[in-house]
Amino acid sequence: MVDGLLKKYRPISDQVDMVELRLILREFEEALRANISGDVCELGCYNGTTSLYLGRLIKAYKSDKRLWLYDSFEGLPEKSSEDEAGLGQEFQAGELKASKKVLLDEFGRAGLPRPIVKKSWFNNLTLNDMPSEISFAFLDGDYYKSIKDSFNLISSRLSSRATVVVDDYGNDHLPGAQKAVDEWRCNNKNRIASFREEASLAILHMV
Ligand SMILES: C[S@@+](CC[C@H](N)C(=O)[O-])C[C@H]1O[C@@H](n2cnc3c(N)ncnc32)[C@H](O)[C@@H]1O
Repeated sequence: MVDGLLKKYRPISDQVDMVELRLILREFEEALRANISGDVCELGCYNGTTSLYLGRLIKAYKSDKRLWLYDSFEGLPEKSSEDEAGLGQEFQAGELKASKKVLLDEFGRAGLPRPIVKKSWFNNLTLNDMPSEISFAFLDGDYYKSIKDSFNLISSRLSSRATVVVDDYGNDHLPGAQKAVDEWRCNNKNRIASFREEASLAILHMV
């Protein structure tokens, strides 16, 4: 199913590479097939490049799972010290600004159900903004605090055997992502059934 979707539909931005997109979607497809309980979240959805494929898979599987998307739609926040890579001044505050309306229009054009979209900085969200149960989460906020805040929001809502995929775990330009993942892993050892790094993704399966 995933390969068919990737062949049929082009990504609408370069914010995710094809190897990673395929991995993310395969993980999601496995969660769908295994009928893991709970909805689907993407924290750091930008213009919906990956979100559209998540929506297409939900539709293809005739699943009643809802897709929850989160972004500031103001672009990236300021970096913290954990994000300093010593590799130049890539990634500035305000970069990657997208529009909630454009994202929703893309879903409409694709003939997909309207996702639930929350426009906010992650640290201003509360558990009231989250699904009661999460089967699959994709975290793509790039920075240490963004990933840490994302984990804070999803952690208590992850269902048994849920999958969490975090982008940029192996990206030397964004070292904060790995730091935030490793801290969460360290504090949640008993809840994690498996962890692996593939391409630059961290892929976690819950007990
Ligand atoms: C690399 S882009 C996401 C790409 C998207 N996942 C995709 O596949 O197309 C990172 C996004 O995270 C958002 N972001 C980063 N930190 C955030 C924060 N703390 N609160 C809200 N949004 C944040 C940015 O606005 C940006 O749109």
